[in-house]
Amino acid sequence: MDIARTPANPDGNPEMADAAHAPSEPSTIRREDYRPFAWIVPETRLEFDLGLESTRVTARLTVARNPKADPSPVIRLNGDGLTADSVLVDGEPSSAWAMDGDNLLLTLPGEAHEIAIATEIDPSSNSQLMGLYASNGMLCTQCEAEGFRRITFFPDRPDVLSTYTVRMRGAKAQFPVLLCNGNRVATGEDGEAHWAEWHDPWPKPSYLFALVAGDLVARTDRFATMSGRDVELNVYVRDGDLDRTEHAMESLKRSMKWDEEVFGREYDLDLFNIVAVSDFNMGAMENKGLNVFNTKYVLADPDTATDGDFDGIEGVIGHEYFHNWSGNRITCRDWFQLSLKEGFTVLRDQLFSADMGSEPVKRIEDVRVLRSVQFPEDSGPLAHPIRPDSYREINNFYTSTVYNKGAEVIRMMRTMAGEERFRKGTDLYFDRHDGEAATCEDFVTAIEDGAGLDLTQFRLWYAQAGTPKVSVSLDHQGDKATLRLKQVVPPTPGQPDKQPMPIPLKLALFDRESGTHAGEELVVLDTAEAAFAFDGFASKPVLSINRTFSAPVTIERSVEREELVFLAARDDDPFARYEAMQELTTGHLVAAATGELGETEREASVSDIAEALRAVLTDAALDDLMRGELMLLPGQTYIAEQMLVADPGRIHAEREALKAELGKQLRSELHALYERAEQVPYSLDLAARGARKVKTQVLVYAAASDPAKAVELAAHQYDRADNMTDRQGALMVLAGIDSAERTGRLLDFYNRYQGNALVIDKWFALQAMSLHPQALQHVKALGDHADFTLKNPNRVRSLYMAFAGNPHAFHAANGEGYRMVADLILALDPINPQTAARFVPPLGRWRRIEPVRAALMRAELERIAAAPKLSRDTHEQVSRSLG
Ligand code: TRP
Ligand code: ZN
Repeated sequence: MDIARTPANPDGNPEMADAAHAPSEPSTIRREDYRPFAWIVPETRLEFDLGLESTRVTARLTVARNPKADPSPVIRLNGDGLTADSVLVDGEPSSAWAMDGDNLLLTLPGEAHEIAIATEIDPSSNSQLMGLYASNGMLCTQCEAEGFRRITFFPDRPDVLSTYTVRMRGAKAQFPVLLCNGNRVATGEDGEAHWAEWHDPWPKPSYLFALVAGDLVARTDRFATMSGRDVELNVYVRDGDLDRTEHAMESLKRSMKWDEEVFGREYDLDLFNIVAVSDFNMGAMENKGLNVFNTKYVLADPDTATDGDFDGIEGVIGHEYFHNWSGNRITCRDWFQLSLKEGFTVLRDQLFSADMGSEPVKRIEDVRVLRSVQFPEDSGPLAHPIRPDSYREINNFYTSTVYNKGAEVIRMMRTMAGEERFRKGTDLYFDRHDGEAATCEDFVTAIEDGAGLDLTQFRLWYAQAGTPKVSVSLDHQGDKATLRLKQVVPPTPGQPDKQPMPIPLKLALFDRESGTHAGEELVVLDTAEAAFAFDGFASKPVLSINRTFSAPVTIERSVEREELVFLAARDDDPFARYEAMQELTTGHLVAAATGELGETEREASVSDIAEALRAVLTDAALDDLMRGELMLLPGQTYIAEQMLVADPGRIHAEREALKAELGKQLRSELHALYERAEQVPYSLDLAARGARKVKTQVLVYAAASDPAKAVELAAHQYDRADNMTDRQGALMVLAGIDSAERTGRLLDFYNRYQGNALVIDKWFALQAMSLHPQALQHVKALGDHADFTLKNPNRVRSLYMAFAGNPHAFHAANGEGYRMVADLILALDPINPQTAARFVPPLGRWRRIEPVRAALMRAELERIAAAPKLSRDTHEQVSRSLG
C-alpha cells in the first residue's frame, strides 16, 4: 500500500510522550550514560522518489524488543527537521506517537512490529551537506555521524545494525545513474523514470547508508581477491573528469591487495563503488560498498595535481577502503568510541602509504601533522582524550586527537608488541568482534589477549588528554652511562591531575669516535621517574631518543648543539636525523624569539645550523625526498608550542631571518642542488619527486635571502613547468614577493585553469598562505571574488583555512585577521555549521599568545558567542574556547 497517501497525524498525540515517561535528550551526552537501545531493527526497507527539490522517502522497519536492553514500550526515532506525513504500525495508521523536539516517539504494544513512516525532504535547500543533498545537479548523501536522521526517522545510533533494501526511483534523463550500498538486485523503467533496487547483505548502522543519483560516468576495473572473488570496481565522476581517475583506481587496487597481505583482510562484496562529489564537508566517507569522496581525493593528473595531492589520494582511498573492516564489519558502539575506527584506520593508512613510498619520509610527514595540529589541540582549551567523556555536538570530535593521536596510541602497542604479535592481536580483534558494534576497551583487550601484552596501565592513553613531557638527562661515570627520565602529563580542561603512563622510547647511544651504536633499545617509562643504566662506554655517548617517534610526547633535554650537529649528520635512523635538525633550529628560534640570544651566541648558533644543513645539502648518500624533509624549518605553530606565551610577530621575523642567513651562507650549495634537480625529468618515481621537492625548498631559501634572484628562478621554473608540483611551488614563492612576475604568473595561472575548481582552490590558497606583507588585504579582496562562495567547503577552506594557518597575516597586530575569521564564522554558521565550527580553534589559542593579541582574539570569540541563533557546533567550540 502507498502509505504516503494514508491520512497523516502531523502532530502525533501530545499526551503520549508524557504517558510513556520518555526522558528528553540531554544537551550534553556522556559516555557513562550509554544504554543499549530497547529495540532491534533487523530489516530496513527504504523507498526514494527522487527529485532535487522534493524527495519522498518511505521507511519500513521491522522492529523487535532487544532482549539485552532494559525494556521500554517506546521506540525513539531520531529526526532532524523532519515531519512525518504518515505513521503506520503493522499496516494500520497509528496515533500512538508524539514529537519530542525533533525526535519521534512511538509506543508499541507488542514484542515485534513493522513501522512505516513517510517523509518529504528538499535536497536542494540542504546547505549543511548532511543527509540527502544536491551537488552540481546530482543527489548524494552524507550520514556520518548523525545525517541519516535528516532523511528519515530512525534510531540513528551506531549500535543499531540493520539489513537494508533500498528502492530508488528518479527521472532517467536527470539521474541516469542510481547507486546505493551493496548489490544492485533489480532495475526497471517506468515512462520517463527508472528505478533500481539495492540490497546490502551486511547489517550496518545508519551512518554507513549512502545513495547517489546523477549524471555520472565511471572508470571500471576488476580485482580478484585472495580467495578468488571477482570484484567490480568503479570510480564515478562527472563527464569530463574521467581522464583524472587513473591514480585513484590504481590506489584502490593497491589498497585491496595490501590489506590482504598485511592484515589478512579480504573484501566482502562483488562491487565496490567510489563517487567523487565537489561539495563535501570532509575528505571522504566509507559507506558500505559506496564510498563518497571529495573530488580533491579522487581527481589527479600531472598537469593539475601536485605530488602531495597524489599522495593524499592514495592515503584517503586506502583509509576509506580499510574502514571496510575497521569501521564497517566492526563498527563503534557509540560515538565516544570513534577512535576505535578512526585511530586504527589512520594507522592502517599510514602503514600502507609508508609501504607504497618512503617509510621514513611518511613517518616525518605524519609527525609533522601531529605536532602542528594535534599538539596545539592537546595543549589548548579544546583538549580531550582520544576517547572523550562527553560532547554536545559529535561533529566537533572528528579531531586530530581522535584521528592522529588515536593512531599514535595504537602504533605504540604495535611497537611494544612487535609486528608479528601485533598482527596476532588484530587477527583476534577482527575475529572476535566481526559483525559487532565494539568499544575501544574491546580493541585493547583483543590486542592484549592476541599479542600477549599487559595493557592495564596503557589504557590511560585512552582516558587522559594532554601531550606528556619527558625530561631526559644522561650522565656518564667510569664506563657507565645513566639515562634519567621524568614524565609529566600536563593538566587539561576537566583533568587537573594525571597519572604516569607507559611511554615506549626507542633509543640508541652513539660512540662519538666511531659514529656507531651497539644496537637500538626500547625502554618503557611507566613511572613518574626512572633511571636506566648502560655499560661499556669509555666516554660519554651521544643519545638519540624517541627514534621513529616511538611515543607522541615532547622531549625536553639540555643537549649540546655539537651533539645535534653530530646526529643530524650521522644518525642511522632517518627520523632521528630529521629530529636533530628540528631540535637545532627550534632551539635557536625559541631562544631568539624570547630575546635570550646575545649577538655572539646567535652567530655561533646560526653557524652550527648552517654546518648541519650544509652536510644535508651535500650528502650524496641521501635521497632527495629525505633531503627535502631535512631542509624544512619547523613551522611557526610548532615553535609557538615550545613557548609558554608566544609573540607571533617575533617568531615570524626570527624564522625569516634564519632562512635568509642560511640562504646566504649556503648559497652555492643550494644553487648546485637546484641545478642538479632541474635536470631530472618528470615522473612519479621517488627520485623525481625528491628532485621537485628540493627545488622548491631552494626557492624558499632564496626568497628570504635574495628575493630578486628568487623571483627570477621561480618565474623561470613556472614558465618551463610541465607539472603542477613545479608550477605551484614556483607560484607559492612568487606569491610572497611583490613583483611584476608575481602579478603576471598569478593571472596566467588563473586563466589557464579557469573552470577547474580544484586548481582554482590552489590559486586562492596560494595567495592566502603567502609571505606577502599585504596577504591579509589580498584575502579580504579574494573574499569578494566572483569565484568565491560560502556554499562550497573546499573553496571556503582554500581561502580561510590557508589564511588562519598563515601566522604573519592571521596574527596581524591590529586584530584584523581575527576579525575576518570571526566574520567568516558568523556568515558560514547558518549555511554550514559543521564547517563553520572548524574555524574556531585558531581563535581559541589565545591563552598562548602575548596579551595584546590575546585580548583581541577573546573579543572576537565573545562577539561570536553573543550572536543570536548560533549552531550547536559553533556554540560548543566557542564556549569551550572561552573556557
Ligand atoms: N568517517 C569519515 C572518515 O574518516 C569522515 C567523516 C566523518 C565525514 N563525518 C563526516 C566525512 C562528515 C564527510 C562528512 O573517513
Ligand atoms: Zn576514517
